Amino acid sequence: MRKAVLVTGASSGVGLALCKRLLEEDHELHLCLACRNRSKAEAVRAALLASRPLAEVSIVQVDVSDLQSVFRASRELKQRFQRLDYVYLNAGIMPNPQLNIKALFSGLFSRKVIHMFSTAEGLLTQEDKITADGLQEVFETNVFGHFILIQELAPLLCHSDSPSQLIWTSSRNARKSNFCLEDIQHSRGQEPYSSSKYAVDLLSVAVNRNFNSRGLYSSVVCPGTMVTNMTCGILPPFVWTLLMPIIWLVWLFHQKPESLNPLTKYLSATTGFGSNYVMTQKMDLDEDTAEKFYQSLLELEKHVRATIQKRNHQS
Ligand SMILES: NC(=O)c1ccc[n+]([C@@H]2O[C@H](COP(=O)([O-])OP(=O)(O)OC[C@H]3O[C@@H](n4cnc5c(N)ncnc54)[C@H](OP(=O)(O)O)[C@@H]3O)[C@@H](O)[C@H]2O)c1
Repeated sequence: MRKAVLVTGASSGVGLALCKRLLEEDHELHLCLACRNRSKAEAVRAALLASRPLAEVSIVQVDVSDLQSVFRASRELKQRFQRLDYVYLNAGIMPNPQLNIKALFSGLFSRKVIHMFSTAEGLLTQEDKITADGLQEVFETNVFGHFILIQELAPLLCHSDSPSQLIWTSSRNARKSNFCLEDIQHSRGQEPYSSSKYAVDLLSVAVNRNFNSRGLYSSVVCPGTMVTNMTCGILPPFVWTLLMPIIWLVWLFHQKPESLNPLTKYLSATTGFGSNYVMTQKMDLDEDTAEKFYQSLLELEKHVRATIQKRNHQS
């Protein structure tokens, strides 16, 4: 039977590159592109099928920053699929990133220079806003919309006979210091992106704790630094080209891979000579915090569902 794979944010950047690679690995996949923009998704579908005609490539329209859209897409997926083998939770935003020039220059001449370039720590702030669901946009897009998607898709993901896998696109920018259990949406801070990626790491750990017994496993990955629409919002492409050799050096000098466990993050890396490899990194978190965060998400889910139901009744 064909393996079924769902990829959110498949219309560009990391998601698009991932779809091409997945079809190289298995020509007969059923790949479902979960995109908010149907015409972009149609163009991607046509391009993928042109090079891999044996594959089945379908589209589901979903805006993960809009819960009604997530519910609608989940219903559609449950009608179309018996099961999903892999779900790549990749769609993400970093809105209006601002480079902190002062931090950049002081970092350049400090001992933290490699760390600063590899994690962007202290370098980037963003402007967040509130969505129609009344949530912080970065949190809803990068975390909560995906959380609701997997809650809704549980019947397609939880099978005791053969496991399914969730793979979250996290980031090296996920930092404990930017996350707070009392403000999970990061409404009071200036680094919502970093907070949301740390939240993704926590959520993956909590999913393993709560779902492994039901046949669902979760991992987090960091794609490395890639020149995509997102990174071009921070610096122009030519600056990234100049920075790349520095970033390669960072990857070259990193820690050795550790044994596979749910508290490990997988990082795509490239050597200075251009060969790619995967390395692992233990995440800076503990399982208790992950569980508390998961419980906060369940609470928020109840609240948001009640609000949406009330709104639907009134209209
Ligand atoms: N680039 C890097 O160096 C880097 C490093 C670490 C982690 N990441 C992560 O990699 C993931 C992909 O980012 P990228 O670099 O490939 O950026 P990108 O080219 O901007 O791609 C982002 C993707 O997410 C989709 N998306 C955004 N908001 C959405 C929403 N509300 N609903 C549905 N889809 C939505 C976009 O759709 P549209 O085409 O419609 O905009 C696009 O397909 C993100 O989670 C990002 O945090 C990237």
